Amino acid sequence: MFWLNKAHASTFMPPQGTEIATQYDSLYEFIVIASLISCVLVIGGLAMFVLKYKRKSETDKTAYITHDTRLEFAWSFIPFVIFLVVFGWGTYIYVQMRKAPDNAFEVHTFGQKWNWDFVYKSGKKSSGLMVVPVNTPIKLIISSRDVLHSFYVPAFRIKQDAVPGRYTKLWFEANKVGDYQVFCTEYCGKDHSNMLAKIKVVTNEEFEEWLQNNPYKGLAATEIGAQVYAAKCVACHQKSAEQASSIAPSFLNLFGKTRQFADGSSTTADENYIRESILNPNAKVAKRISGEAFSPIMPAFAGQLSDEELMGIIEFLKTLKE
Ligand code: CUA
Repeated sequence: MFWLNKAHASTFMPPQGTEIATQYDSLYEFIVIASLISCVLVIGGLAMFVLKYKRKSETDKTAYITHDTRLEFAWSFIPFVIFLVVFGWGTYIYVQMRKAPDNAFEVHTFGQKWNWDFVYKSGKKSSGLMVVPVNTPIKLIISSRDVLHSFYVPAFRIKQDAVPGRYTKLWFEANKVGDYQVFCTEYCGKDHSNMLAKIKVVTNEEFEEWLQNNPYKGLAATEIGAQVYAAKCVACHQKSAEQASSIAPSFLNLFGKTRQFADGSSTTADENYIRESILNPNAKVAKRISGEAFSPIMPAFAGQLSDEELMGIIEFLKTLKE
């Protein structure tokens, strides 16, 4: 049966990164082909009967037809069997899709406006990039730090909502080394469509090496800061002059300036102010150039950044001057 041919299946669908994806595509193609055959039979039959039994003269009379039990049974029972096959086959795949093996390697996954963070049990953290070993079941424990998001990997044919205040789970076992795209598939605000991440599937040896490796080894503080900025801040904080439409203060010339706050107070933007504004953003809510306060929408980063990363951001801010 040609729809079970793996090479053929990928012509309609994204690449197949897991065994589940292969099974999923087979079922999908079975449904498409069964629907096509039904469509041809029903529409073809309709057209044929319209032509064959067309009234040919004014005196033609409609034939007296009652019914045919065998025919009616056949056109009810055959679709019933097809539906049962789809139901059974679908349930079989769904159960496998939802039930993670007990020995699965766990990765905590956090969604927030507008990126994905991954935290490993060893303490390793990664933003926008999940590295996992090939041919190993991976279980994601997913939650959200703000609003509803949804973690979607087309190549694995899996999708799961990220819900604030609750853990949801998802699992996969990638069977090919390579990079796979993650999308957010629950509308979550301005940069929903940019809420992307990569899953990098590597060999076991490469994975162990990555897990041990300090990503900031040998980097200057400002370079660490630039990386953190690109991963965490850039969606809201610009490096160019503040616009009337900006949703958050610009980082340009921020360090060392006097900051005006919504409650009328002010302070100089020094290391302590920057640190507090990252870890507890609502402690002091800055005003816009127009004078009104920014909306206090920034999530707190307490517990998410290492001391090294905080230091990096502070040093990076100092370089944004003109
Ligand atoms: Cu997060 Cu859409």
